Amino acid sequence: MSDKPWGGVFESATDERVEEFTESVSFDRRLYEHDIRGSIAHARMLAEVGVLTADERKQIVSGLTAIGDAIAAGKFPFKRELEDVHMNIERALVERIGDIGRKLHTGRSRNDQVSTDFRLWVRDEIDAIDRRLKGLQHAFLTRTEKDSGVILPGYTHLQRAQPVLANHYWLAYCEKFDRDRQRLADCRKRVNQLPLGTAAMAGTTVPINRELVAKELAFEGLVANSLDSSSDRDFAIEFAFCLSMIATHLSGWAEEWILWATTEFNFIKLPQQFCTGSSIMPQKINPDVLELIRGKTARVDGNLTSLLVLVKSLPLAYNRDLQEDKERVFDSADTVRACLELAAPLVADAELKRESIEARLEDGYLDATTLMEHLIHKGVPQRTAHELIGKLVGAAMKRGERLSDLPVDFFTSAHESLDESVYDVLGVENAVKAFCSTGSTNPAKVEEQIAVWKDRLRD
Ligand code: ARG
Repeated sequence: MSDKPWGGVFESATDERVEEFTESVSFDRRLYEHDIRGSIAHARMLAEVGVLTADERKQIVSGLTAIGDAIAAGKFPFKRELEDVHMNIERALVERIGDIGRKLHTGRSRNDQVSTDFRLWVRDEIDAIDRRLKGLQHAFLTRTEKDSGVILPGYTHLQRAQPVLANHYWLAYCEKFDRDRQRLADCRKRVNQLPLGTAAMAGTTVPINRELVAKELAFEGLVANSLDSSSDRDFAIEFAFCLSMIATHLSGWAEEWILWATTEFNFIKLPQQFCTGSSIMPQKINPDVLELIRGKTARVDGNLTSLLVLVKSLPLAYNRDLQEDKERVFDSADTVRACLELAAPLVADAELKRESIEARLEDGYLDATTLMEHLIHKGVPQRTAHELIGKLVGAAMKRGERLSDLPVDFFTSAHESLDESVYDVLGVENAVKAFCSTGSTNPAKVEEQIAVWKDRLRD
């Protein structure tokens, strides 16, 4: 008999190059805990339905537990010729407890086993990433205490647009990461369906009880169709997309703070523990962590693309191509986790440079739109008001002045209803207060939102 668990039909040994080419144990060994959990649940179920005796179940469960301990202690010799983590563990079980171990694989295949393990792993990872996202939201929310009252220029097209509270900025990121968390929670529902029992692709003649296994492993339900389940990787690809979206949000934030940390913007001081220097230019304090958070988005997006291309032409059901999925998903999860781990303390410890921000805050006509709306409130149609204020801004630009510096007759000659009251809405401070719509940067509305977030993020 060949040494391979699938060797019966073979008359010649596997070429060593094939062993090297097809192995996955070098990377799927990180599924070992989930593989053992899944196998223990499977063995208990087999005993429950009478395929194993109680004693056989006991031996299998304690054998698997001991193997798990050996792996955790770094004392398990994974063998490449046994292909993957699943066959390595199964072989070790047989070596430990003898022929009884040969019964464990009854009613299942590696195809449903690998999908089960992977789903368990993704599920744990979703929970771990969710906790880190919450930590990052917390970091933004905590900033709202120290940045209370700070006004920043808001941008569109990276040109000064309208004034906003710094806290409005922080809550904007809380919202983005919240949608990421919602996406993960939604993805988790589809991940959390048990494939075990699909066996290779058509099911099994063994009278297994899938519900029992699902219950033990805390799956919400069973994958309904064995062909679908054997070929499905959308649960993993959806997770990879969620990670891409998180990386994209992180990248946009990182880019913004990289800009803010330039001499040109001079809005923010990054914590030095999160910066690095230059080997030649002594003055440099570089935002490398932010740059790498931005840069690592590329590999996360690359992984998502690889996964989509991987499955795009696969016929039903399992195909070995699917083995290529794990490294991509592992890499995306590891990368995003690492980024989140650094993002939270960086957000918490950075300092807004209030003086530098304030010194130029009245530049850029951030109050022009508020003045236009002031005119609208006087009954002037929007298009007309836009035109009139545009002209006023043009005139102020020529004089090298701000709108609030212009004498009142300037306004009155632009439109008769513009009187002294314009000074109530001009200047960034007034402009910010003038906002009133829900979701706007109006200080009272932002305070309300801070309270909502404090409540939401309460442990
Ligand atoms: N290691 C494989 C994977 O990750 C599982 C192997 C299933 N192999 C097979 N010939 N059916 O997908």
